[in-house]
Parts: sequence; C-alpha cells; structure tokens
Amino acid sequence: MKIIKASRKHISSIARIISVLDTEHYRFSDTKRIAALVSKGWYFIALKGNQPIGAMCLEPIEGSYQIDTIASRQKGTGRRLIQFAIQKCKKEKMPKLWCWSLTRYHAKGFYVAMGFEERFLLKKQWFGENCYLFGMVITPNSK
Ligand SMILES: CC(C)(COP(=O)(O)OP(=O)(O)OC[C@H]1O[C@@H](n2cnc3c(N)ncnc32)[C@H](O)[C@@H]1OP(=O)(O)O)[C@@H](O)C(=O)NCCC(=O)NCCS
Repeated sequence: MKIIKASRKHISSIARIISVLDTEHYRFSDTKRIAALVSKGWYFIALKGNQPIGAMCLEPIEGSYQIDTIASRQKGTGRRLIQFAIQKCKKEKMPKLWCWSLTRYHAKGFYVAMGFEERFLLKKQWFGENCYLFGMVITPNSK
C-alpha cells in the first residue's frame, strides 16, 4: 500500500470512499468540495496497486493539522493514514493533530487505538449532534 497526494483524477474515488461520512445535514462527498480540497493539496489517497482503498484530508489550521475526513475500505488502511499524518506533522514541525468525529461514526475506539490522548465529547455540537474532539500532541517520539 502507498499513500500519495491526491490529484483531480482521484476525485470520484475519494467521493465514493468518503461518502460513508455523509449525513442528512452535510455531504463530505460533494465533488466540488473535494475538488477544492484536492486543488489545495490537502487530500491524500491510499492505493493498493492502482486501487484507491482509503482517503484522508489534512487541513492546516492555525499551526496544527485537522483531519477533515478519513475513511478506509480495507483494514489496516486507517492506521497507515494516521501514521502518514503523524509523519507529515513531524516533518513540518506541526505540534498538533486533531479532528472532530460525530458519535454516530462509532470511531472512538479507532482514535484511542491510534494514540489520540485527548478525547472530549461535545453534546449537540454539530447541527445538534453529539461530536467528539480527538487530539494528539506531536513529539519527536510520535509514531
Ligand atoms: C474508522 C476507520 C477510518 C478505521 O479504518 P480501518 O482501516 O478499519 O482501521 P485499522 O484497521 O487500521 O484499525 C486500527 C486499529 O483501530 C481499531 N479500530 C478500527 N476501527 C475501529 C472502531 N470503529 N472501533 C474500535 N476500534 C476500531 C482496529 O481494531 C485496530 O486496532 P488494533 O491494531 O489494536 O487491532 C474506518 O473504519 C472507516 O472508514 N470508518 C467509516 C468512516 C469513519 O468513521 N471515519 C472516521 C470518522 S471521523
């Protein structure tokens, strides 16, 4: 498996992979939204051979990286994407990796397994929906 910066040709694959995150309030898989993020160089895609099996958007915000979206279609890909994000933070001297995660995704166990040590539940935070905030301070020892 390899992880590369996504280009325009990956937009429809990203939309398919990320569509699991769509809610009745927001379409993360909207191709215009994805195209804008790809053109900024913020989308990354995991490939097995030529086949896209995961996607992640890393948005730089005020000296940190926010995981805007992450989704995997094959076990082990989520871990690889997070490891990629940690290495990118280290390379660019970003001290923080964090994300929002709606409780409906049931992804807390994933973020715990990945070593996110800050975990806050915000009630009715996003369109009236409960949402976690997960955070990890990046150190030279982060893996
Ligand atoms: C969450 C998601 C990205 C994880 O990707 P994945 O490729 O299945 O994750 P991995 O196989 O690399 O798992 C890494 C570890 O997390 C654990 N894990 C993965 N998903 C989990 C979950 N939903 N709950 C609890 N633990 C989970 C795995 O068991 C594994 O732990 P281990 O190494 O100790 O066995 C994937 O399930 C997904 O795309 N879900 C739908 C979209 C989503 O919820 N995205 C996050 C929302 S912000």
